[in-house]
Amino acid sequence: MGFLRSNGIFRLLWPHAKPHFGKLVGVFFCSFLGALLMQSTFLLLTPAWGILFPSDSAALDSRIEQVMQERSIPADRKAELVAIVQEAQTDPSAVAEGWKEKLRMRITDAIVGDPKDLTPERRKFLLWVVAGLVSVLALAAGLVSYLGILLGAKAGLGMVVSLRQALVHHLMHLSLRYHGRRKFGDLLSRMSADVSKTLSVIDILLRDLVQEPMSALIALGMAYIIAPMATLGVVLGLPLLLIPVSILLRRMRKGSTKSLNELGAATQAMTQIFSGIRTVKAYRAEDRELDRFHKVQMGYVEATMKMVRAGALSAAWTVTYTHVGMGLMVVMVGYMSIAGILTGDGGSMLTFFILISQAYKSIKKTLRSTGTVAEAQGACDRLQELVDEAPDIIEPPNAAVLTGLGKGISIQNLGFTYDGESTPALQDINLDLAPGETLALVGPSGAGKSTLVDLVARFIDPNEGRILVDGKDLREVTLDSWTDQYSMVTQAPFLFHESILENIRYGRPNATPAEVEAASEAADIHAFIQSLPQGYRTNVADAGSRLSGGQRQRITIARAVLHGAPLLLLDEATSALDTESERAVQRALDRLMEGHTSIVIAHRLSTIQNADRIAVLDHGRLVELGTHDELIRKKGLYAHLHSLQFRTEPIPQA
Ligand SMILES: Nc1ncnc2c1ncn2[C@@H]1O[C@H](COP(=O)(O)OP(=O)(O)O)[C@@H](O)[C@H]1O
Ligand SMILES: [Mg+2]
Repeated sequence: MGFLRSNGIFRLLWPHAKPHFGKLVGVFFCSFLGALLMQSTFLLLTPAWGILFPSDSAALDSRIEQVMQERSIPADRKAELVAIVQEAQTDPSAVAEGWKEKLRMRITDAIVGDPKDLTPERRKFLLWVVAGLVSVLALAAGLVSYLGILLGAKAGLGMVVSLRQALVHHLMHLSLRYHGRRKFGDLLSRMSADVSKTLSVIDILLRDLVQEPMSALIALGMAYIIAPMATLGVVLGLPLLLIPVSILLRRMRKGSTKSLNELGAATQAMTQIFSGIRTVKAYRAEDRELDRFHKVQMGYVEATMKMVRAGALSAAWTVTYTHVGMGLMVVMVGYMSIAGILTGDGGSMLTFFILISQAYKSIKKTLRSTGTVAEAQGACDRLQELVDEAPDIIEPPNAAVLTGLGKGISIQNLGFTYDGESTPALQDINLDLAPGETLALVGPSGAGKSTLVDLVARFIDPNEGRILVDGKDLREVTLDSWTDQYSMVTQAPFLFHESILENIRYGRPNATPAEVEAASEAADIHAFIQSLPQGYRTNVADAGSRLSGGQRQRITIARAVLHGAPLLLLDEATSALDTESERAVQRALDRLMEGHTSIVIAHRLSTIQNADRIAVLDHGRLVELGTHDELIRKKGLYAHLHSLQFRTEPIPQA
């Protein structure tokens, strides 16, 4: 059990295996039964041999007669001699084990009967009986294997789906603090390659790793019944095979983690190339990128080869050992037979050899599967790393439900530092926002404006201080009720690959088409959408370049309008647009801001001037706060930024 708990696969998969426990037990049972049925087929070899080559017993008969002649023993004592020979055949050193020999004889007797009765007609009939028995066993084994595979696949796929769901659920609920530093390509690689690796192992775990060791044990057990000493010899040799392999398996597990890490780096490199394809092309950097990608790939090859080498060594040693083992066993059996420890006719020795070779084959398969499992353990270790990432945006059990902004928002002594950064992105921020007020956030790039908005949206939680809404700490209200209070529009409009209707309805999934149209009207995009051949049903992916940045942004504004929350968070909603689009978007936003409480990050004067108050941030601190006129008179940072913009932009109409 201790081994299981420390085992990466078990720890990762157990929560997903629990709901499929019944199926898993079924698979286990099928594997056991299947192995038993398949190995039983070989037990029929002994009687079949007796039927095929009855001369064996005839040979014994004639040898006895020869001995009787040599020693001039009277013919009436033949029965007695045969009895003595038969007794010698049962292992005299282990009387307690005589029952096994008797069992075997009984099976043989039952089918073959008295060897003397073996007329050609009866032999033919008996061969058909054996063939029939083999077929029945095979049919049962086939049925059990069919059931086992179906059950195993059902449980395995169910587990993978549940694992992926759980991972995505877990990752989605991690804050931007986590997603900010996690490389997307690496995440993608873990979710695809690592999960598939884990999928492959479920199958192997359930079937090969249950069935093959079981087959090996059953084959060895049956071989033991036939020739106990020889079988013990085989078993005693096994550590010689297993110890080196287990060392190599540990190496494979470590190698697998490294190899998957490199694969993640390769995926990361690819996502970067293709997400930056314009830049790559514009600088004719294709060759440079290819070179870089090649280096990353070679890292993958190197790490993977380490793992493959360990696996190949393990496989090579297994093959060598089992084959040399068969050879040595022949020698051992020969010695035992000469020393008289081993008795048995040709048929049962043939069965014995076949059983041992079956056992070796199953051990070989087990070890190969264990290799795959070792690789998967590397993948599981990496997935476990994701699972172990503790969610940092949490909701206390007695979280309050917000129904509005109430007395407004109060930011108190707020401080935030990104993980791994030495200087805080925000410190000592104190700000109050009354209901209905519009607050503009201004400041040079990197001042901490987006961080402040992310904190208000609770994408991240502060290291110091707090944000109160209607007197309640944001960390003590339910996440659902808080997200219902704000709509957010950011710099880069994000549209899902769905119809425009669905994209707008994202803001309120149960909105009627009429409500969607009203929202679009408010966002000044309704007329445009209607001019499209498929109107609201147009898929955003199909529309492609026909949608300009401004149109995309107005669709996200319609989404925000439809969400209908009292607080608006606008983070440079117009800054990525050309002047003309910007005007259209700004008109839509101005209309939206009316009657809303708003926090607006903008660099255009028109938006800023219209705000009730302006907060100026610099290096993470709140340096100025007041109306446009107050701040201009103050001749501080705002006045400076304002004068800079005047040089490049005509005075906007109020
Ligand atoms: N995910 C992140 N990880 C580390 N540092 C970050 C991250 N996001 C922003 N920062 C840093 O925090 C500071 C504030 O950034 P930000 O809030 O985006 O500024 P603004 O929106 O005013 O341009 C900057 O110094 C920036 O480099
Ligand atoms: Mg920003």
